[in-house]
Amino acid sequence: MPATIVVGIQWGDEGKGKIVDMLANSGFHAVVRFGGGNNAGHTIHNEHGRFALHLVPAGIFNPDTLNIIERGVVVHPTSLIKEMDELLEKNVSLSKLKISPFAHMVMPWHIAEDRGREIAGTTSSGSLTHIGTTLRGIGPCYQDKAGRWQAFRVGDLINRQTFLEKLEKVYISKALALQAAHGVALPSLEDVKREYLEASERIVPHIADTSSLIRKALYYGKNVLCEGAQGTLLDVDFGSYPYVTSSNTTSIAACMLTGINPSDVSRIIGVAKAYVTRVGAGPFPTRMDRETEEQIREFGKEYGATTGRPRLCGWLDLPLLHYACDINHITEIALTKMDVLGFLDPVKICTHYKEGTVDMFSLSDMTPVLGSEIHGWGALGECRERSKLPDTARQYIERIEAATATRVRTISIGPERNETIT
Ligand code: GDP
Ligand code: IMO
Ligand code: MG
Repeated sequence: MPATIVVGIQWGDEGKGKIVDMLANSGFHAVVRFGGGNNAGHTIHNEHGRFALHLVPAGIFNPDTLNIIERGVVVHPTSLIKEMDELLEKNVSLSKLKISPFAHMVMPWHIAEDRGREIAGTTSSGSLTHIGTTLRGIGPCYQDKAGRWQAFRVGDLINRQTFLEKLEKVYISKALALQAAHGVALPSLEDVKREYLEASERIVPHIADTSSLIRKALYYGKNVLCEGAQGTLLDVDFGSYPYVTSSNTTSIAACMLTGINPSDVSRIIGVAKAYVTRVGAGPFPTRMDRETEEQIREFGKEYGATTGRPRLCGWLDLPLLHYACDINHITEIALTKMDVLGFLDPVKICTHYKEGTVDMFSLSDMTPVLGSEIHGWGALGECRERSKLPDTARQYIERIEAATATRVRTISIGPERNETIT
């Protein structure tokens, strides 16, 4: 059986972690994280406990599944080790965790630059002063990857001597540049060396030729699941640029970054919340009034899994959802947090934009039209069948299907694995 791709089709935090954890338990040979870094926070509630995974794929709880960090991911070694330790503490096996040597590493200067730009705001040379990043050094790391001269990959940890020689050279140049641009200092060179050498001992044993593992699995008819990070509207090319992350987050990126033949992909699952949330700056057209936003933030615990920042909350945006389904060639939607939205009354939904077709280039100038109010459906309790959902909840789902021409095949009504209607 071929490949399945799970991607977020809003602004991230749609519930991808829950959906991937649930699917991984149903016979996938491998789960592959293909992009982003520890800017991601994928929350999972299962029999092992509650976890917020940032780099480790959400299939890790299934001991038979290979969990692969592929080359498109940017890896901060110390953060990865912290996450590995948290999993080991809860008796989750890491024996099938594999890391691509081609994955780039987040270095201390990437984090310092991210902070320098976002917090100190010392480089407002253009009109852009603040993106609201997660401050994990993700953008600067992808910049160095594209720049090629000063980048480090996970595979560089294998040869310590050459790694240390390059580290020294790049450190000096980065330290000078950061001091001049942002007035920030780096940790000492000795500390940086120690941190990365210590990390190498834990990480090198997990390095493998991941791309060939994936191709081989597919060749022998095994199931492979690609786990997206962030969301379509945060994609560097298809999202609300410049208020996006620095990588591609869509289903096509999954193929590009894993080497999977697009014709081997049979399911592309778009995860969407029943409403929308966003952290960071940038356009967010359907934002709720502050009182309603606060209510849903409390009901839905809408605080970032990575940074703890309160998420902005808005009404479901059908034109943007349709756009995201199109861009990703979504074959089915997994709709999360239906239990949360039902407590609001009325429930509003954005049916179209005043200006016509949604235009990502000028999204901040567009006016959403909120129509089609329906009554909230209240608690969903133990409901495990779509046909047994309250009428208004079913109507809401049907509206989504009509607007996106895509079937909602999974309905999530709570954070636990089994709080799902399929
Ligand atoms: P991800 O980044 O897409 O994996 O999503 P996050 O983990 O950042 O955020 C989703 C949050 O919603 C997490 O706290 C999940 O535990 C929670 N969650 C997922 N699905 C549901 C659901 O259907 N109902 C409720 N109440 N919570 C959910
Ligand atoms: P998951 O995988 C929500 C947002 C940041 C900021 C912008 C750029 O959990 O859905 P970055 O640090 O990437 O340079 O920040 O992107 N962002 C996310 N928002 N969920 C995420 O990941 C995100 N990853 C990045 O808030 O607006
Ligand atoms: Mg998240």
